[in-house]
Amino acid sequence: MMNLTASEPVELSELRCIGCGLRTNNPGHKFRCSACADLLEIVYPGWDTTDGQRAAPFTAAALKALWRTRRKSFVPMDQSGVWRFRELLPHFASGEKIITLREGNTPLYELPSCARAVGVEYLVAKHQGMNPTGSFKDTGMTVAASMARQEGFRWVGCASTGNTSASVAAYAARAQMRSLVLIPQGKVSWGKLSQSLDYGAITVELKTDFDGCSRILDEVVDRMPVYLLNSVNPYRIEGQKTAAIELLEQLDWQPPDHIIVPGGNLGNSSALGKALLELGKLHFITRLPKVSIVQAEGANPLVRTMRETGGRKLVSVRAETAASAIRIGSPASWKKAVRVLEQTGGTVAEVSEVEIAWAKAQIGADGVGCEPASAVTLAGLKRLVQGGFVKPGESVVLILTGHLLKDPDFTLKFHRGELFRDTEQRKEAEILVPHERAPITLEASADAVISVLKQVEEGSEA
Ligand code: F0G
Repeated sequence: MMNLTASEPVELSELRCIGCGLRTNNPGHKFRCSACADLLEIVYPGWDTTDGQRAAPFTAAALKALWRTRRKSFVPMDQSGVWRFRELLPHFASGEKIITLREGNTPLYELPSCARAVGVEYLVAKHQGMNPTGSFKDTGMTVAASMARQEGFRWVGCASTGNTSASVAAYAARAQMRSLVLIPQGKVSWGKLSQSLDYGAITVELKTDFDGCSRILDEVVDRMPVYLLNSVNPYRIEGQKTAAIELLEQLDWQPPDHIIVPGGNLGNSSALGKALLELGKLHFITRLPKVSIVQAEGANPLVRTMRETGGRKLVSVRAETAASAIRIGSPASWKKAVRVLEQTGGTVAEVSEVEIAWAKAQIGADGVGCEPASAVTLAGLKRLVQGGFVKPGESVVLILTGHLLKDPDFTLKFHRGELFRDTEQRKEAEILVPHERAPITLEASADAVISVLKQVEEGSEA
């Protein structure tokens, strides 16, 4: 056993193909297996049990204490909510190469009115939208971008529905690397576009969807030395694991019964599940939460994959949903996500556009707020309670992946009653009316303002 105070334990990692199991130290430029082209994942051979004994060079109790101590430190790596847990991440030769914006460290919020609305007693949200660029992507980006720098790349790149692009651009700028982001034209929120521009990315809008942008980026990295920062990059997944580690720490290592997460390209659900399985294997926790994945009905490839093939073959779809972040029809990490569902006993759910809008307003009403793609978690939870998969007395954590200010157009249209005005969902959308709060234009007088207050008071007493 190493002395934790003298030198921190170092665990060497290697890459393994999730399909054929081939182990390698060379991920290639597309992070795919050289034998079967499946995705790679990072494994830590030292954690595997030998003759029934855990072989990791640390105990869970020692690491829990060490991580807590680091909260008092002013060292950048310790202040990062990702690198604070570095014993469970790939080892970096020098801390100086780490690019950090002090990502992670995100809050847990109780959601009392949401809990009442869906019929559960204990409901909290882990708000990953409180990361430096406004989404969970930063937790993965700090690791993968640091790797790009360590490998000496000058360029990094991604395809994105918005959040990844802002995160890639920010971390590249911090490291003085150049970034290329490919986004579907007209389908990415202005806020996200502005971030990429300000952080100095070469921002390219393509006349295609996210899946098309991914295909084109694949070709670009074949032909140019651009380091790929989408979530097929297994270093992204390692960083994103820390949200689950931090969550368990915040819950004093008492696992909730359920964790509910949105599903797009399926990197995040894969990462959270991987973390939980590793924490179980290393004896940090004694039981696993069920991880369930929610998609929009119009962008439901995982739901269909589970329903129609039992998780054996990807059913791609042409994706359409106002939850722009998860408008993805052919998710790269679907096999990893299926494994997480199977190994944690979770399930999938799909929700309508109206249900997403309702859930987003409901999360706002608890003073928390999130982007539409994150709100699918609450809408999905409602369905899972109705279907009996989640019991009213069970504890539930929603992973809110992105910030409320991501899709302001969606929010404004919602409150003006315009989201579903000329659509087939008009009737279903009537349930939204009590949540709508359109801005009010008045004469510039206190009398006019006070008369509105009185009307609101009378309305709430009626
Ligand atoms: N929630 C938000 C806010 C997202 O931005 C994304 C993905 C997801 C959920 C889905 O996560 O892909 O790991 O299953 N956004 C990507 C992007 C695709 O380009 O920003 P996933």
